Formats: sequence, structure tokens, C-alpha cells
Amino acid sequence: MKKFVILFLSILLSLSVFSQENILEVFSWWTGGGEAEGLQALFNLFHKYYPDIKIINAAVAGGAGTNAKAVLKTRMLGKNPPDSFQVHAGMELTDTYVIPGLMEPITWILKEIGAYDKFPKDLIDIVSYKGEIYSVPVNVHRANVVFYNKEIAKKIGMKKAPTTWPELLAYLDKAQKMGYVGISLGDKNKWTSLHLFESIMLSQLGPEKYNNLWKGKASFNDPDIRQALLIFKDVLKYVNSDHSALTWQDATRMLFEGKAFCNMMGDWAEGYLKTLNWKPGEDFGWFALPGTQNAFMLVSDTFGLPKNAPHRENAIKWIKLLASVEAQDTFNPIKGSIPARIDADKSKYDVYLKWSMDDFSTKAITPSIIHGSAAPEAFVTALMDAINIFVTKQNVEKTFKEILWIAEDNGYVTD
Ligand code: GAL
Repeated sequence: MKKFVILFLSILLSLSVFSQENILEVFSWWTGGGEAEGLQALFNLFHKYYPDIKIINAAVAGGAGTNAKAVLKTRMLGKNPPDSFQVHAGMELTDTYVIPGLMEPITWILKEIGAYDKFPKDLIDIVSYKGEIYSVPVNVHRANVVFYNKEIAKKIGMKKAPTTWPELLAYLDKAQKMGYVGISLGDKNKWTSLHLFESIMLSQLGPEKYNNLWKGKASFNDPDIRQALLIFKDVLKYVNSDHSALTWQDATRMLFEGKAFCNMMGDWAEGYLKTLNWKPGEDFGWFALPGTQNAFMLVSDTFGLPKNAPHRENAIKWIKLLASVEAQDTFNPIKGSIPARIDADKSKYDVYLKWSMDDFSTKAITPSIIHGSAAPEAFVTALMDAINIFVTKQNVEKTFKEILWIAEDNGYVTD
């Protein structure tokens, strides 16, 4: 018995020593090409200002946070939060963590460093709840982009970016006939199929109706959603047969390897292609998915302050750093995203990112489903599963009905 008491006391002691150590534990899923480099650049900058604080990189691998999100939730609910964590702006932050009372507001931090009014209002709105801001957006990614191999584009005679589905499908067909994969997909981690489908849905509904779905002002019972499934089915004729064994990076790399003509992905793919020493505009090109030229499917990574963060003071330093122009301009050119701050230095960004910046300020902003902004987790997971089954079975009517059930179950309009 005595032995156990001693053991117990020494564990307690070591835990408290750990929490008093000068540590900052940052949780994310940035382990892949482009992502890991961007995160490391932020860590390096943090070290420049706080050389004595040891960073624990608690990243959990898996694109779009497929594995990380579950780990994070367990830690948060088990009262074992990291000091700060990556979370998407929108429902993923508010519905999962803010409303259940697990986060501290950070409005005061942004005010203290004069960054409060330096972010677009629409973005601040979706990281806020009842008048308080709960996380700092570190970037803005665009999800509705098709990246392509310029050399293959030349071979298939693509002179200008396709703006309609028949045009794109014709190029995919041509590429396939010439022995290439038309459009690469890597849905080993499931999320990429919904990533593709949500933008096809946007192309059919248009930004206004798409946005109204989430406000309860438009119905899911819309022929445009059925039409989106039909288009998705057409697109699936041109994907690689081993798609379910590949990650998103594997699929993006197929452009670099000269195996696939194009890949539809968020622009973290741009960050990844750059780590392979591919040059935007020279080696690879891009265009908005046909029918979504007027929209910017928004994905924003943010970091917040959990209640009872073990090293709260260090977490506040981290959040202050992320909110600075310096951090945003260090991270984003590497990550393949644009700064969330409106006063960043545009000259630091490459030709692709400048294109994205221009579109961000002029196009309709639409929140991504799979990347946590538009809808609560239960809806996203159910829809992701339905779309994954669709990729194998390709049953349009059945999937359309399933989408309606999922929407109804989650309180969205379906009549
Ligand atoms: C998104 C995230 C991006 C990128 C991508 C692939 O959800 O917002 O920053 O990491 O997943 O992992």
C-alpha cells in the first residue's frame, strides 16, 4: 500500500513539474508536405522571440484532420487539452468546442495587440459566438481549385481553362485516351470525395442557394443536388483505379509524376507541389472548378485557447504571434494559403496565391462542408459516409435520398 502511495505521489509530482515547465504544446494535423514546413516556420518564428519556451509538436497525421479531430475531442472532453490547437473557422469551432463551454474568448488578445479590426468581418463572424472571438484565423485556403500538369495540358490541346462541365469532361476524356489518369483522387482517408462533391454541388446550386442551405433558407430537396451527383458520376469515370489506397498527397503527386492530367484539391496542394520544387504557372496551372468561378470555397485554419490550457501564458504568446502580419506572411507563402489579415504584404506571395487573393476579395464566399465551416460534425460525418458509398456504388437516386435524410436529421430544410 505504502509503495502505491509513493508511486502515486511521484506521478503527481512529475505531472506538476511537467505543467510548470516552460512548454507550449501545439496540436494540429500538419504533418504532410507543405503543411509540416509551414508549421515549422511558425515554430521557428516563435523560437526567435521566445527561445526559452520548448514547443511540443502534438501533430496527428491524416489529411483534413481525419484522425486528429477524434484525438483532440477525446483530450478536450477528458480535460486534457493541449495549449492551443488547429480548428477550422465555423461550426467545427463553435458547435464542437465553444458552445459546450470548452474555450476561452480571445477578443481581448486581438484588441491588446491592435489586430482586432485587421481581419475580414465575415471571417471574424464565423470564429465568434455571442459577441466574443474564440480563435485566430491564421490563413485562408481555397477549396474549389483544379491543379493541372501544364505539359499534359499542352499534349491534350488545352489552350484555356475549361469553364463548363462538358469542356472539362472532354479534356479528362482526351487525357484518358492518351494514357493518363484524367483526374486523380486519393480517398483513402475518405474526406477527399466529399471535398470534390461539395464543390460540384456548389457548381450546380450557385453560391447564393448553396449558402442559403446553411441558413435554412434553401431546401436540400433540389434537383441541382441530384444533378451534382450525376456530374460526380461522370467525373468518376476518369479517376485512378487505386484511388481508395491513396492519400491526398499521393493523388496530387500524380501530377508531378506525369501520371495524371489534373487533381481537384484545396490549395494546400499548391504548398505541397512547391515542396517538390514545382513552380506555379510554369510546371503546374490551376482553375476554379467549372461553374464555381464566381465563388471562393473557404477553408480557414485557426488556433484557439482551450479552458485550462496547461501553459496558458505561453498559449497567449502563441496566439498573439499567429495574429501578427509577420507570422501570417511567414506561414502562408509556404502553406499554399493566403493571409487572413487584410494588411499583409502581397509582394511575398507567388502568382497562384495572388490569384487567390484577388478572388477572395471579389467572389462570393462559401463555407466548406468537409472542412468544418458550414455544418456541424454529425452532418459532415454522415454526408462523408454517404458520398463514400456513392463513389463505389454510384447510385444517384439512393444517395440523393440519403442526403435528404441526413439533412432532415440535422434540422435542415428538405421540403
Ligand atoms: C484542411 C486544412 C488544411 C490542410 C488540409 C489537408 O482541412 O484546413 O490546412 O491541412 O486539410 O490536410
